[in-house]
Amino acid sequence: MPDGLGMCEAPALLHDGRTALRLPELMRIQPEEWVLVLAAAGGLGILLVQLAHAAGARVVGAARGKPKLDLARELGADAVVDYSESGWTEQVREVTGGKGPDVVFDGVGGHIGSAAFEVTAPDGRFSAHGAPSNEVAKVDPDEARRHGVAVFGIEQVQLARTDANRLTGLALSESAAGRIRPVIGRTFPLERAADAHAAMEAREVIGKTLLLI
Ligand SMILES: NC(=O)c1ccc[n+]([C@@H]2O[C@H](COP(=O)([O-])OP(=O)(O)OC[C@H]3O[C@@H](n4cnc5c(N)ncnc54)[C@H](OP(=O)(O)O)[C@@H]3O)[C@@H](O)[C@H]2O)c1
Repeated sequence: MPDGLGMCEAPALLHDGRTALRLPELMRIQPEEWVLVLAAAGGLGILLVQLAHAAGARVVGAARGKPKLDLARELGADAVVDYSESGWTEQVREVTGGKGPDVVFDGVGGHIGSAAFEVTAPDGRFSAHGAPSNEVAKVDPDEARRHGVAVFGIEQVQLARTDANRLTGLALSESAAGRIRPVIGRTFPLERAADAHAAMEAREVIGKTLLLI
């Protein structure tokens, strides 16, 4: 554990950090591009918002409810949209000047992920790595080809041990240097693991949930 990293921050980054660092590499984010992050206040989403912002992209953070959207803004999102409200994809289109986001990080899946795919800019990149909604986004490969959208699945973030170690080390050192920060929304003692799962399922947690041993 590098100096300067707390006992909760380090474990909060172990898994999310390496995935978060791998995804922008994969999607080749360019400065000034528009990046849409779904589940922007989840453990992974909060890191993606920060990394996309640091890469010089313009970030739209999408989540449910004001407190989560406020956090996305605080972490670097240029605009935020609430995907529990109707018309949210029109808002995304409007914010991105009518073109839609060049890159989409879909950490939600289901109908929200599918709707995000529909507004992805022509020649964009779409990562369908999340399914807290219970299913991954349905993406028609023919439609993706027609729009020139490159689609990436969760298999792309199953890392070989050398990459996993490299990116985990990098996430820890980047956080110790103050360039990314995990946000720990709630902690529970191990004996209350069931309550932790219930809170996550109820979407009550803003940021990461940790069990304390
Ligand atoms: N963390 C990783 O390293 C990693 C690696 C590969 C894949 N993934 C996948 O990426 C997704 C996001 O990861 P994460 O670490 O950010 O997860 P997380 O911390 O558990 O957050 C999940 C987010 O999903 C949103 N959500 C939408 N519909 C939901 C539902 N029905 N039930 C619960 N939450 C719902 C919630 O935000 P709102 O309430 O704002 O919608 C919540 O903030 C997960 O599906 C995960 O499996 C993660």
